[in-house]
Amino acid sequence: MKLRDFELECFFGKYEFTAPYLLALSDCESMTAGDLLALEEGSEKGYLDQWLGYTETWGDPELREHIAALYGPDIAAENVLTLHGAQEGIFLLLNTLLDAGDHVIVMYPNYPSVEEIAAAIPGVSCSRWELQDCGERWGLDLDALEELIRPETRLLCVNSPNNPTGFTLTDAELDRIAAVCRARGLYLFCDEVYKGLELDGHPRSWGADRYEKALSLGVMSKAYGLAGLRVGWFASRDRELLDRMVRMKHYTTICDAAPSEYLSKIALRHSDALLARSREIIRRNLLTADKFFARHRNVFEQKAIDAGPIAFHKLLLPMPAGEFCDLAVEKKGVLLLPGRVYGTDGPYFRMGYGRRSFPENLAKLEEFLEEQGF
Ligand SMILES: Cc1ncc(COP(=O)(O)O)c(C=O)c1O
Repeated sequence: MKLRDFELECFFGKYEFTAPYLLALSDCESMTAGDLLALEEGSEKGYLDQWLGYTETWGDPELREHIAALYGPDIAAENVLTLHGAQEGIFLLLNTLLDAGDHVIVMYPNYPSVEEIAAAIPGVSCSRWELQDCGERWGLDLDALEELIRPETRLLCVNSPNNPTGFTLTDAELDRIAAVCRARGLYLFCDEVYKGLELDGHPRSWGADRYEKALSLGVMSKAYGLAGLRVGWFASRDRELLDRMVRMKHYTTICDAAPSEYLSKIALRHSDALLARSREIIRRNLLTADKFFARHRNVFEQKAIDAGPIAFHKLLLPMPAGEFCDLAVEKKGVLLLPGRVYGTDGPYFRMGYGRRSFPENLAKLEEFLEEQGF
């Protein structure tokens, strides 16, 4: 298997730790290990007493229980496989499930590793199920799905809440997609790493709760703001597929880091509070963003989001969005993510709302617009 460079991660590799004004990130505000330990009495001692040997490949049993508790009655601890971040899950699933001759449908845009890894598996073909620019927000043509299905289609990959558009399937839409998959015997990969960040007051169901051949991908990185733990998971009713992924995990990471598993358990015991904290930061930043975009209607078409910490806005200036983003980071140190890293030439860029520093970083973007005469 030969993988091409991961453009999105290469872009962040260049700027994430050098650009001072980060307006592109998809994870929510993080915290120190001390902040997390302070949530629970006695946990600091527990952390120091943590045994640093190997852990179980399936994941810490108690952690798997906590994860299973996020789901409905069909998901028990034995239906959960922990992962080294969500990224490992994408790699394991596609490599486990797909063989030469298989066809995959991928909601697009999407976190690019899905398409890249699928395309790198010899003999696998991929079709895009494209989200539509509907003016003030992004939308999805559900009828278009059936037309993309072929006899050799094996897997449908959806990402909801979506990276980068913030588009989020309703439960009714998810059920409709599950019905199509059921009728054709397709697996459904639901990348749900931004779940818990619903902003419209309607919490969504996990894919694994709605469809027997769905795989729900979750992670501590995004909604919980704990990307440095590198703990993710798959939940599925299909134990046999999870078991096949475990046998591949023996070749990737073997097991997760014991300190990370310990800290993840604390975070999940305080799941509601941590998710509410992230949603509150996003909501406040969205109000600031609304005022900013109202002042710059000649430069941007603002896109509303249903859930998650990111939006995919449209640039109205007569220049490629990539050139605009390059100029913003080089002249002013303001980091926006150009749509080109998603493989699109369109006039779009990603903005992230999950950080407390958003208002001051947005003010720098505004200074940049003034200085450039945009
Ligand atoms: C939709 C989606 N899936 C998976 C990942 C990978 O997450 P992690 O960094 O936790 O491995 C990301 C990261 O940006 C993402 O946006």
